[in-house]
Formats: sequence, C-alpha cells, structure tokens
Amino acid sequence: MMARPRVVVAALLPQVGLELLRPRYDVDTSSERPERLWLLDHVRGAAGMVAAPGVRVDSELLDAAGGSLKVVANFGVGYDNIDVDAVRARGIRATNTPDVLTNATAELAVTLMLAASRRVAEADAAVRSGGWPHESELLGRELSGATVGLIGFGRIAQRVAGLLSGFGTRLLYSSRSEARGQAVAERRELPELMSACDFISVHVPLSPETHHLIDGALLAKIKPGAILVNTSRGAVIETGALIDALRSGRVGAAGLDVYEDEPEVPQSLRELSNTVLLPHVGSATGTTRDAMARLCVENLVAVIEGRQPPTPVV
Ligand code: 8YV
Repeated sequence: MMARPRVVVAALLPQVGLELLRPRYDVDTSSERPERLWLLDHVRGAAGMVAAPGVRVDSELLDAAGGSLKVVANFGVGYDNIDVDAVRARGIRATNTPDVLTNATAELAVTLMLAASRRVAEADAAVRSGGWPHESELLGRELSGATVGLIGFGRIAQRVAGLLSGFGTRLLYSSRSEARGQAVAERRELPELMSACDFISVHVPLSPETHHLIDGALLAKIKPGAILVNTSRGAVIETGALIDALRSGRVGAAGLDVYEDEPEVPQSLRELSNTVLLPHVGSATGTTRDAMARLCVENLVAVIEGRQPPTPVV
C-alpha cells in the first residue's frame, strides 16, 4: 500500500482545518510559531505545508524538504513570510486566504480608529485600576466630519471605506493606481494624504517597496494630532519614528494590531498612554478563522491532488 502523503502544519490551524486534513494525510502539527529547527526537520519528505505570517519560508526551508514539497498554503492573506521567487524556482505552489477575512480585518481597523480616538484603552485601564477620571480628562475626537486616509486601496481598505459610509467622513486614499469604478474616495499622493487627514489607516501589503514606507520624513508631514491605525504589517511603519511622533504628540494616537518583530512589542509603545495595542487579531473571529482554515486546506489539497488551487499566489 502507498504511504499516505504527510503535511506539516506550522500554524495554529482551527480544528475544522485539521479535521479536513486528517482523513487524507498524516498531519504533523506544531504551535503557531514553531521552532525553526522543528520545521527544518519535519518538512523533510512532506508533500504540503501550512504556514502563517511569522513562519519564514525561504530557500533553506524549501531545500530541507528534499524535493517532496508541492505546496505551501499560507493561513492568511499576507504572504510576506514567503520567498515567492524561491518557491517558483523550485516548481512549488504557494497559496493564501484572501476575501474571507476582508470584513473582519476592516471592522478591526474601524474599531482601532474609534478606540484610539475615544481613548478606550486608557479609560478602561483607569476604571480597572479603581479610578474614575473626570470626563474632561478623557476628551476624544469624533470620526464624523473627519477626513480619513487609507494607505493602499485593495479589498480591505475598500471595505473600510464602505463601513465608514455611515459616519459622515471624507475619504482619501493613496495607491499606485487609480481605483476604477468608485467615487467614495479621492486619490492623493502619500505626503499630501498624510497632511490632510485626521485619521490614517494602513492597508498595503509588506514588500521591499512598502518596508518603512511610513518613515520619520513622512511622519513629519502628518497633520498634527492625527490618529494612525495599522492592521497590515508592522514593518510598513518605522517603529522608532512612530514612537518619537507619539511622544511629541505629532501623532495624536496610534491603534496597532501589528508590529515589526511580533510577538515583541517595544516597551516604549506599551508605556505610551496614546496607543491602543492589540495582539494581531485582525482576522480573529470564529467564522472568519474557520473560513480561512477551509480555504487554506482546499488550496493545499487541490495542489497535492494535481488540481488548480482556488487562491494561488505562485
Ligand atoms: C494571520 C494575517 O494570517 O491574513 C493575514 O495576513 O496577518 C492574519 O490573518 C492570522 O493571524 C493567522 O496567523
């Protein structure tokens, strides 16, 4: 009898995903952030691998598979963890999970805009520690009437634009190309967007072009007191420059779900009262995570069975 193919799951894949895998394959599971050595060891001879943001898929890892690997199925829409050239060069496929997490992530971006502007974390911390600050000490700002800038205008940013339609905001976006067939937002060059907006939300994927896209020079252009939200990838923003701008008050507040060196969060960010800090939960709703798991497994199974995966990146 032929041995069953083996797949390595290097992500905290929801149960529904594991249940789809187990009848078909021998499944090697690890935690969300498996040790590199564990991965290098377990990928050897595997037909498929489930990866996630934070799991570096590079030549070394692909070569460790010893030629058996057919597919790297990322549990997530972002795939900056994958060296796509190295994958392509070896004739391996890589896939991601777009669309199914668009709404959850967009809702979290709006949550962070509101939480940062109404100082929700600060107020909550005060009440938990037995305090009752006078409301004049917790004055916030409203989204209504504000100008909101979306950096990047893909699926998630466009969903944010839709969610904001009831708030009475003016919407600007920056993007390499003009978005066709929509009139809800006006396109601006990035420096102009920075200086015009009261709220700015980051929605570009991480790539060599967007690494530290928002650096000290750009932060110096931000409208004084503006609120900055990031649900994309931490490294799109130069963290040190952001910390300086938050300290000086040039950036009024930041709502962050992602960080440059996750799960490390700089102590200085944690000490600032004008930050709302979340542990990368943009897609973390039950329905969305289950849908991501199904799509991730569908991709993996399709490639191993010689079919076209539904959402390939390579
Ligand atoms: C993670 C994400 O994939 O989709 C992405 O790009 O960053 C998240 O949805 C998720 O947290 C699983 O690690």
